[in-house]
Amino acid sequence: QSEQGLRPKRLADYIGQETVKHNLAVFMEAAKMREEALDHVLLYGPPGLGKTTLAAIIAAEMGGELRTTSGPAIERSGDLAAILTALEPGDVLFIDEIHRLNRTVEEVLYPAMEDFCLDIVIGKGPTARSVRLDLPPFTLVGATTRAGMLSSPLRDRFGVMARLEYYKPEELAQIVERSATVFQATLEPSAALELARRSRGTPRIANRLLRRVRDFAQVGGEAAISLERACSALEQLHVDPLGLDHIDDKLLKGMIEKFNGGPVGLETIAATIGEEAATIEEVYEPYLLQIGFIQRTPRGRIATPACYAHYGVEKQNG
Ligand code: ADE
Repeated sequence: QSEQGLRPKRLADYIGQETVKHNLAVFMEAAKMREEALDHVLLYGPPGLGKTTLAAIIAAEMGGELRTTSGPAIERSGDLAAILTALEPGDVLFIDEIHRLNRTVEEVLYPAMEDFCLDIVIGKGPTARSVRLDLPPFTLVGATTRAGMLSSPLRDRFGVMARLEYYKPEELAQIVERSATVFQATLEPSAALELARRSRGTPRIANRLLRRVRDFAQVGGEAAISLERACSALEQLHVDPLGLDHIDDKLLKGMIEKFNGGPVGLETIAATIGEEAATIEEVYEPYLLQIGFIQRTPRGRIATPACYAHYGVEKQNG
């Protein structure tokens, strides 16, 4: 992945998420003192906030290898068994989108998480029997955008649950300054803060905008990325001062213009703008809720007065 070089490798280099970082540092140190594998960790929160990065950091700090897979990639219990039996003591198994594991696979995971063992059935019919394999002690790191979609038996088997929050602009500014150093680009502090403010609290977005702004500066023959250049490039990219892009615009303006601000159902919104309902719910909506532009009600989503004000539109009566 192109983000690779930008990801911090150790906890000390990870910016923001102070509570999560502090707690993890304690749990990892305690596990190391006891010479045990770290308890299983569930990371949840909106996309792009550093769940994969944290999983890699946990593996590095604990001195194990990181094995990465995802919920949808594990189709059958045999796929999971193959992964589990290849683990070495202290390895970290990272399962992204863990809420998308199917039930059969989940059931293989329970004893693996709880007792480090694997129950496999050999044979069929009356002669079928179950054998139990021991697994090395390992740490499962699960990531999901929606902790509520995990079954409760799975959720209960994580000893550590950490919710990642949107980053503050000052933290994102530090992140893009660090990234600029990695790119060997000069980024003026005011430009860093502007990028940070328009990145929806999300490092992945901040780093992507940094790359694009750097492109504009480079083609413009500029040695450093100035505030002026950052602003003009962001305008070219249709990223507004709050970090909203054309899809957010389409979504919000659609709610205002076609549904008089709602309430309107998620599926209806999805159909009118041609995006998947799940994408809206997991990717776009969390930030719009966070900045108070939409609200969820039992009858559907509504556009708030702050949203109307942003677009300079008056709400129609009736
Ligand atoms: N790059 C992406 N996320 C980061 C973070 N939280 N800290 C440092 N660099 C990052």
